[in-house]
Order: sequence, then C-alpha cells, then structure tokens
Amino acid sequence: MQITSSPVATLTLTAAAVLALSAPLAHAQDVQVVRIAHAGPTSGGIAHIGKDTENGVRMAIDDLNAQALVIGGKKIKFELVTEDDAGDPRQATAVAQKLCDSKVAGVIGHLQSGTTIPAASIYNKCGIPHITAAATNPDVTKHGYNTTYRLIANDNALGAAVAYYAHDTLKIKTVAVIDDRTAYGQGLADVFKATAEQKGIEVLATEFTNDKATDFTAILTKIKSKKPDAIFYGGLDAQAGPMLRQMMQLGLPNVKFFGGDALCTEKLPELSSMSANLSNVTCATGGASVEKMQGGKEWKKKYDARFPGQFQVYSPYAYDATFVLVDAMKRADSVDPKVYVPFISKTQFKGITANIAFTPKGELTTPAVTLYTYKDKVRVSLN
Ligand code: ALA
Repeated sequence: MQITSSPVATLTLTAAAVLALSAPLAHAQDVQVVRIAHAGPTSGGIAHIGKDTENGVRMAIDDLNAQALVIGGKKIKFELVTEDDAGDPRQATAVAQKLCDSKVAGVIGHLQSGTTIPAASIYNKCGIPHITAAATNPDVTKHGYNTTYRLIANDNALGAAVAYYAHDTLKIKTVAVIDDRTAYGQGLADVFKATAEQKGIEVLATEFTNDKATDFTAILTKIKSKKPDAIFYGGLDAQAGPMLRQMMQLGLPNVKFFGGDALCTEKLPELSSMSANLSNVTCATGGASVEKMQGGKEWKKKYDARFPGQFQVYSPYAYDATFVLVDAMKRADSVDPKVYVPFISKTQFKGITANIAFTPKGELTTPAVTLYTYKDKVRVSLN
C-alpha cells in the first residue's frame, strides 16, 4: 500500500505542510521593508559619478541588512530604490515627486547642485529627508529645511581653497575663468574669482560653456591671446577632460588648470585621453581623501572588490549618508519620516568619512577639504 493512499498519512503530511508554510509566513509578517532611494545621474556624461554614488548606497544597505536591525519592534529589511535624474533639473523634480508619491523612507541625493536645489523643496513639502553626498552649492541648505542635509564641504570652502593654493603655493598672478552655467559651475567659479581677486590674482577673462559641450577651441583660443598663468573651470569632468586635451592641441601646455570636486575624479585622465597637462591640474573635494578617512582604507578595499574600477569621488559619503538616515531611525525607534526626521538634526555619528554632526542649516559642523593633482596620470592628494 502506498503511503499517500492512507488517510492518516495524508493528514499527517498535510499538517506538516501547513506547519512548514506557516513558519516563514509568521516570520515574514515581522519583517518591515524600508525603502531608501538613491537619486542621481546614472545616464549621460557623468553616469560614472552617479554610479559610484549609487554603489556607496548599495554597499551601505547590504551592510545595514547584515546587522539585522530591529526598529519599532520589527525586523528591518532595507531595499534600494534607484532613480536616474540624468543630471537634469527638470527630470530631478519629476524624480523627487515620484519618490514622494511612492513614500520612500529617505533619499540619498541628488548629485549636482542644479538638481538638488529644486528637488530639496519637493522633499521638504512631502516630509521625506534627503542627504546629498555631492552637491556643493551653498544654496542647497539656504532654506534650512529639516529634510535637507549635506555630507561634504560646500563651494565657499572649495573655491576659496583652490584660490589660496593658486596664490600662496603656485604663485599664480593671472587667471581665466570658465564655467558651465550650472548652479554648481557658476557658483563655484564666482567664489573662486572673488577669492582670487581678493588675493591679488588678476582675472583676465571670463567665459561660459555648458554641461553638454565637448569643443572648447573657440573659448580656449580667445583665452590663449590673453596669456593667463592658469584657467579655472567651474564644471564637470566630462567637459574638463576634453578641455585639457584641447589646451594641449592649442599650445597651452604650461597653463595651470583649476577646478572643484566634480572634475576631480578618478576618470579625468581617461576623459582627457591621458593628456600630458594632467599634472597641471589642482582640484578640490569637500572631504578627506579616502586614504585619510578614519575607516577609509578598509572600506575602499571592500568597495574595489565589489565594484572594480568604479570609484570616483563621493561613494564613501553616500555610504555614510545612508547610515546617518538609519542612525536617526534607530534613535527615533521608527522608520516613519514624520517621526524620525527631527532626529537627523541631532546626529552624532562616527562614520567612515568623519564624525558627522550638522549645523542648524544642515551643513557639516567640521567639513574638510582635500586638494588633488594628477601624478603619472593618477589622482593623488596634496594634503
Ligand atoms: N559638487 C557638484 C555639484 O554640486 C557635483 O554639482
């Protein structure tokens, strides 16, 4: 007689099956899924920077899930939501509205100032917090929204640091300034220009381009006739790379080249086609170099193993930003933004990038700045 034909055996099997099914079901009810979004440009000319930042959030979410956190009496499973704003202010506002409508618990983003500034108002209206790991225009935090935070130094620090270095260390006397007319590029160029002039550097020319351009020969030819010691570019690596190459082609091999964080990437050498004047570059980023961060070396080893060749600038800050949101949830014992948002402003978090605390406006209390150049076509820090 086969076992399945016995009514007793069938009953026993059914009960066992019910038990086997019910255990994971009961378990699943105890788990709360918490969605955290990354919003940034993961398509277009600076997709490599957006991906690096997204990677930082992804890594943080995996590390947080490994901690098996219990918040508000529930086991928490974090899930990453990724949104591409394509570096476009209009698309960024659509992304922000979508993330509000879908009620994510928090957002890491956006990457650029031009996208972060309009998105910040939308997140504020719907009460969802966001932390930018990359947008540096001072205006990002100007409203003092309790939903907006920045995890790096802003352009007032970056522009001034480069101007001081140009004057004090490189003894630059004259400069031409170009910007890409974005909130970031223009704002940064203005800070650099004002500080450089205060220090006695003469600004011989001011030129504009845009964040899609690739041919700068007309601008550079105009600038060449003024014979500046240096060019400052307020913009992204996607433009700075070709600009460096074209400076060589136009016979400007000894002109120094300055910029901020968004051109200060690991990919700049490749984008410049390994241009010989990479060694003329000095650029500033708004934090410590990964080698000098308190948890940087180990973190970078882990990052490189997981995302080989993808490191650019901001991923450690995106990683810490994710932990800062979750740290506030833990202290509030709630994943509900209405409950945990007030806890973000009281953050005292030992991250891998730094010890993180915020001013009332949402800026870091003690932001660092690192200057870099390129030696043998590899980015190296100067401080
Ligand atoms: N720091 C750059 C910006 O603000 C990425 O746009």
